[in-house]
Amino acid sequence: MNKFVVMMAAVGASLVMASTVLAGVGRVANTAHNLSSSSLSAFFKSSSENQICIFCHTPHNANPSVPLWNKVMPTQSFNMYTSSPTLSPAAKAVTAPGPESLLCLSCHDGRTAINVVHNTSNPTATTVGNEHIIALDFGSDPNTPVYGSSGGVSLGTFTWDSSYGANLGKTSTDVYSGTNLMDDHPISFSYDAAQTSKPQQLNDRTTVVAAKSGNAIRFFGPEHRLECSSCHDPHVDYGYIKGVPTNTGGNTELRPFLVMSNTGSALCLACHNK
Ligand code: HEC
Ligand code: HEC
Ligand code: HEC
Ligand code: HEC
Repeated sequence: MNKFVVMMAAVGASLVMASTVLAGVGRVANTAHNLSSSSLSAFFKSSSENQICIFCHTPHNANPSVPLWNKVMPTQSFNMYTSSPTLSPAAKAVTAPGPESLLCLSCHDGRTAINVVHNTSNPTATTVGNEHIIALDFGSDPNTPVYGSSGGVSLGTFTWDSSYGANLGKTSTDVYSGTNLMDDHPISFSYDAAQTSKPQQLNDRTTVVAAKSGNAIRFFGPEHRLECSSCHDPHVDYGYIKGVPTNTGGNTELRPFLVMSNTGSALCLACHNK
């Protein structure tokens, strides 16, 4: 092999590495999590706010302080996935979502307003107590949105969205319930404790974490809890919004907001030995 070929092989290898890193790239601007005026979505788009991060983060006076959170947190109690007879004692004992999952549920419970924040860039924005409402438009929503008690908009609000896919807290009779996580994958328990109970059925945590480099499955706190963000990355561009392609070059294998591809159930099999 001459020097040129060796060099080109090295360039090729580094390009492969670069594209592997790019595969998990953020670009939250191209996702359903961009609620600002630059949103590619036909729904949940603000005409008054051009900042993207502000719907979730603020640089100062955040609460909770990690990760610089700008949103009001859910206050209701949740019903968790627990009644399964095969579930380990650790997962069965869970009575409330962990703090990392509450971040997601501050929009995805279907009750807590998605557009009420602690700090806004618009000093004349409507206030509710100490919080501010960022005005949202509703694209082609044919119905008048119903506002929650906080004066904001919740994911349970839209009668046109018959599937309510993103409203995890709904019950069969109440889309505003905001309490029902019984039909969702169990969360907020120690992965290690569950794995110790089921060593044949769950892979060792170190194997799970090593399964992917870069954007990988994550566990939280000293107990290594499983939370929403174990499986999801809320910033990743996966090339779709509400099932409509955005053609932004996002990694479609990461739909919807996944930390790794679930092709052939790869995400499930990273933890479950089935
Ligand atoms: C829809 C809500 C949402 C939006 C919008 C959002 N984030 Fe986040 N962000 C989160 C959540 C939830 C976490 C914590 C969970 C996690 O790390 O996945 C987080 C964590 C982070 C972290 C710390 C953890 C990490 O991944 O490094 C940084 C830094 C961050 N966000 C930056 C940003 C920036 C910059 C923007 C705007 C360009 C932004 N985020 C927009 C929800 C959001
Ligand atoms: C500021 C509010 C907000 C926060 C916080 C938030 N989301 Fe979302 N999320 C939305 C909205 C709005 C949509 C689009 C809803 C729809 O399509 O009806 C959405 C959509 C989604 C979707 C579906 C996307 C699709 O293509 O179908 C997933 C998955 C998701 N979010 C996961 C998360 C996770 C996990 C977290 C926490 C790490 C989180 N979100 C935090 C507002 C939020
Ligand atoms: C064990 C992994 C895992 C955990 C934990 C998890 N999710 Fe998901 N979630 C997924 C996968 C995989 C999908 C895609 C399902 C599909 O397309 O069939 C998904 C889909 C979604 C959707 C889109 C649903 C729809 O019908 O459009 C939302 C919203 C969502 N997740 C939010 C959350 C929130 C919020 C949490 C925490 C309360 C969470 N997820 C916890 C793996 C997970
Ligand atoms: C990050 C690791 C992880 C990922 C990824 C994951 N799971 Fe799980 N899953 C668990 C753990 C841990 C439990 C709790 C097991 C226990 O405590 O008995 C669980 C519980 C379950 C249960 C309930 C078991 C019972 O006994 O009631 C089902 C079903 C399940 N997962 C299916 C899936 C599917 C399908 C996927 C992919 C969409 C998936 N899981 C992704 C870790 C994971």
